[in-house]
Amino acid sequence: MNAKPKVWVARPVFPEVLDRLRQYFEVEAQAEERPRSPAELKAGLAGADAAIVGLADRIDAAVLDGNTRLKVVANLGVGHNNLDLDALTRAGVLASNTPDVLTESVADFAWALMLAAARRVGAAERWLRAGHWPGSNMRFDDWLGLDLHGRTLGILGMGRIGQGIARRASGFSMRVLYHNRTRLPEAVEQECRATLVGKPELLAQADFLVLVLPFTQANRHAIGAPELAAMKRSAVLVNVARGGIVDDAALAAALREGRLAAAGLDVFEGEPQVHPDLLALDNAVLSPHIASASEDTRRAMANLAADNVIAAFGFGDVAGQPPTPLNPVVMSHWAAGKA
Ligand code: GLV
Repeated sequence: MNAKPKVWVARPVFPEVLDRLRQYFEVEAQAEERPRSPAELKAGLAGADAAIVGLADRIDAAVLDGNTRLKVVANLGVGHNNLDLDALTRAGVLASNTPDVLTESVADFAWALMLAAARRVGAAERWLRAGHWPGSNMRFDDWLGLDLHGRTLGILGMGRIGQGIARRASGFSMRVLYHNRTRLPEAVEQECRATLVGKPELLAQADFLVLVLPFTQANRHAIGAPELAAMKRSAVLVNVARGGIVDDAALAAALREGRLAAAGLDVFEGEPQVHPDLLALDNAVLSPHIASASEDTRRAMANLAADNVIAAFGFGDVAGQPPTPLNPVVMSHWAAGKA
């Protein structure tokens, strides 16, 4: 009997997902969460037929160089700017991501950040925990925040997550504007009660601006000093997309100088480092890239990554049909025996 193919799992994941993989594969799973150097990634991938990697693992031509064994890389995330898809395709490696299963949880979390930033939840909690409440003579007009209901929500990037955020807005009686490369079908616009506008209008009108666009070089600093200057001084900015879409230094300056009311940020340029100016600001609510981190969703993401690997090797219920491939052309190369 042939030996089982091998999966290298670069990040600790749920044991039951590893057990599913073990039905078909030899599994080498990393037990420890820590940054992995390009050399470690290269060595891990060199000895494997498939890999499950995290968003911090950069898989590029250098890491793939000389690897003739690897067939599949499954990313634990919907965003895949850590993968060089051209290099993977050239190397005959199928890549996959985890769309859909995280849409609603990330949309929930965008609202958590909007609410927390608008109503100063983080700063108020820090104040309470520091013991300031007793004896503070807290006034009726202390801790005033901003209302969400009745305001204008702007969404930059109107994919599945943007639409999920928009659908929730009707519960807050908010007007929804969006800007996207392409207009949504009319039925979806109606369901989301969202109106397409140009980026300048979005910046000018939004009381809450939520970023949900993928990171590309073209989107780097899509929100920088000029865009921040075009926003209302009373506006709240929320980023659940990717670090680098916002110029964090420019954002910190705008928040510090009162040119923007507040921000809720789950992602940062150069994370896990966070710009020190942001750390010093009470009107920024900061979380460590956890928008998809609900119990159910993280399990679903890990299972979807495993499904892609299992199916790509012709195992399981959907053998030969990985559910969420990013470069499916690779499979036709396999079929033609070119890979
Ligand atoms: C999280 O950032 C993801 O892309 O899934």
